[in-house]
Amino acid sequence: MSVTIFVPRDAAALSLGAEDVARAIAEEAATRRIDVSIVRNGTRGMVWLEPLVEVSLSHGRVGYGPVTAADVRSLFDADFLKGGKHALNVGLVEEIPYFKKQERLTFARVGLTDPISVDDYLANHGYQGLMRALSMSSADIIKEVTDSGLRGRGGAAFPTGIKWKTVADAPASQKYVTCNADEGDSGTFADRMLMEGDPFCLIEGMTIAGIAVGATQGYIYLRVEYPHAHRALNAAIDAAYAQNYLGENIRGSGKRFDLEVRLGAGAYICGEETSMLESLEGKRGEIRPRPPLPAIKGLFGQPTIVNNVISLSSVPIILQKGAAFYQHYGVGRSRGTLTIQLGGNIKRGGLIERAFGVTLREVLYDYGGGSATGRPIRAVQVGGPLGAYLPESQFDTPLDYEAFAGIQALVGHGGIVVFDDTVDMARMARYAMEFCAIESCGKCTPCRIGSTRGVEVLDRVISGQNRDFHLTLVEELCDTMLNGSLCGLGGLTPYPVQSALRHFRADFEKRT
Ligand SMILES: Cc1cc2nc3c(=O)[nH]c(=O)nc-3n(C[C@H](O)[C@H](O)[C@H](O)COP(=O)(O)O)c2cc1C
Ligand code: SF4
Repeated sequence: MSVTIFVPRDAAALSLGAEDVARAIAEEAATRRIDVSIVRNGTRGMVWLEPLVEVSLSHGRVGYGPVTAADVRSLFDADFLKGGKHALNVGLVEEIPYFKKQERLTFARVGLTDPISVDDYLANHGYQGLMRALSMSSADIIKEVTDSGLRGRGGAAFPTGIKWKTVADAPASQKYVTCNADEGDSGTFADRMLMEGDPFCLIEGMTIAGIAVGATQGYIYLRVEYPHAHRALNAAIDAAYAQNYLGENIRGSGKRFDLEVRLGAGAYICGEETSMLESLEGKRGEIRPRPPLPAIKGLFGQPTIVNNVISLSSVPIILQKGAAFYQHYGVGRSRGTLTIQLGGNIKRGGLIERAFGVTLREVLYDYGGGSATGRPIRAVQVGGPLGAYLPESQFDTPLDYEAFAGIQALVGHGGIVVFDDTVDMARMARYAMEFCAIESCGKCTPCRIGSTRGVEVLDRVISGQNRDFHLTLVEELCDTMLNGSLCGLGGLTPYPVQSALRHFRADFEKRT
């Protein structure tokens, strides 16, 4: 009887040699005349174990990792196809505490299934949300999403149901659903992992969105640096069309929804929703002034949903299990789960899906196991390059939009980048300004000029020139950028700079 072996095709696993491992397993099995079936799954998100090879056995999936091609012969010798003992054996994958202690709703299938098999998707509760939505009115679908408490996971945390209602209520003969898959934030990879590991989930979420608001065309604006996600999405879209989950008269419902992937232009600003729309229209990615909101006048001037990958991919389970089920997770006004991406100087980096309310300390130590270098963790940056730097004294803050706003920080897209006590926070503040200077679209003065001047002034602080004067100048510049920028790039760059000044002042003052 054939044994099923899972070898991830996720980009992180591939970068660590998963392709060679899959090939070595196939060759060794052929040499030994053993019948194996190799499924290329997504990742379970435990990056330090990648490539994580899983063998499907009657009592569950036994994992071996991190596997290299050179380990493969010894795995066969150790009878790994029966779960045999080996130094790389990590036991039942779903019993690994890092995985077991998660609350996987959006990522329920990622790593479990064959990402591009409709049958596997259907066998694991796929398309149940869409089938339910097809039997509901537009207003009821939107109410379900609103009642679930889902807020945008792209960064701004705007209530998804309210956005959808605005599009639904806008009169127009053509409306659009666009998915923001630009994922430009440093230290974030949840969108990529979802699209590579369970692309049907995003496709289903977008289809539900289209039916809810009366949009017949969808576009996924995909970061150009994501070739594996591109392939997975296109394969899944083709399969969805072939089985009539996309296109005309979806599953006999009379509803239509078409979907295409468009590659991004490779600039951070193209992730901002109005720039993304400009770029989708084939123009240079620059901010559009608001109002009008994209929900009223978006792509090609028509009412348009712009939602992040994780927001849209959270919709199928909300429709499948109901708003109350989803709403039950979380704290305060932050409902459901957050897909936390843990990276930087950390022992066990990866993807952790937990209900809102988990503290940074729990994430950093219980999941992450502390810094990779073994030195004390001094700072973390949460929410991408525009997020604040937080010191150890704030590690007990729960991951919750309002709690983070209360400490002048952002949850953003849920990326956490860790630094140990060798970090120089003055240089990190300079880096934030430099990032803004490089990525600025140039449309408004506070960001275009301010960020360049900010780098120069911070250089003077770092080299000890007239430090008090220049520190005051940095503070004033941050105030101008915060209050005068047209969009979040210039408007939020002060977050990392000011937080570094607030919590790590000594790093700015120690220089002579
Ligand atoms: C400079 C900048 C970059 C952004 N980059 C992204 C991005 O890569 N992906 C994303 O989903 N949202 C990004 N956003 C947020 C989007 O503008 C928008 O709020 C989001 O796509 C809306 O979807 P949501 O409501 O589902 O979060 C960015 C915002 C700014 C200001
Ligand atoms: S803040 Fe920066 S990125 Fe945003 S519109 Fe102004 S110049 Fe462009």
